[in-house]
Amino acid sequence: MRAAANAFCAVAILAAGCLTSAAHDHATGVVKERMEMMEAMAKRLKAIRERVDAKRDLTAIKADAEAIASHAPHIVHLFPPGSTQKPTDARGTIWQNWADFQRKTTALKDASNKLANVSVDDLEGFRDAAGAVSQACGECHEKYRIKRRKGDL
Ligand code: HEC
Repeated sequence: MRAAANAFCAVAILAAGCLTSAAHDHATGVVKERMEMMEAMAKRLKAIRERVDAKRDLTAIKADAEAIASHAPHIVHLFPPGSTQKPTDARGTIWQNWADFQRKTTALKDASNKLANVSVDDLEGFRDAAGAVSQACGECHEKYRIKRRKGDL
């Protein structure tokens, strides 16, 4: 059974998600909490992008964008100094550049609020604003997160 599960995992890694749940299984405390919060934001962003691409359900974007905006100010609380327990991917430089890290959470909040306020008939506006949210995620990851796998935000 175990071998079968591992084989499944090897395949599933290609489809992403497998490493993530493995990390969650071992993560504890605040590291686990922030991974879960990040995952929750990723789910919402994915839903937003799918709606923009499919040009449907655009009215539903607002609630997801607002949820991301409301998560953003809590990011700082989930990175207390010294919270570098395995299996974290957080870089130690976060705490050497705390003001910058904080600014990046504000940038995410602002970009998400903008997305929440795009008017329903403005597809181009949705596309741009969703792109800006992804970029706000990516700019922080680029600098403060150890790369784990291809295709990560
Ligand atoms: C201010 C910095 C910052 C912002 C903004 C940010 N992240 Fe992250 N994110 C991190 C760091 C640091 C980690 C690594 C955390 C760890 O492993 O302890 C991370 C991890 C993740 C993970 C992996 C979680 C896991 O299970 O290991 C996902 C997915 C993610 N972020 C998605 C997002 C999305 C989507 C956004 C934007 C909506 C976003 N993040 C915004 C810093 C940020």
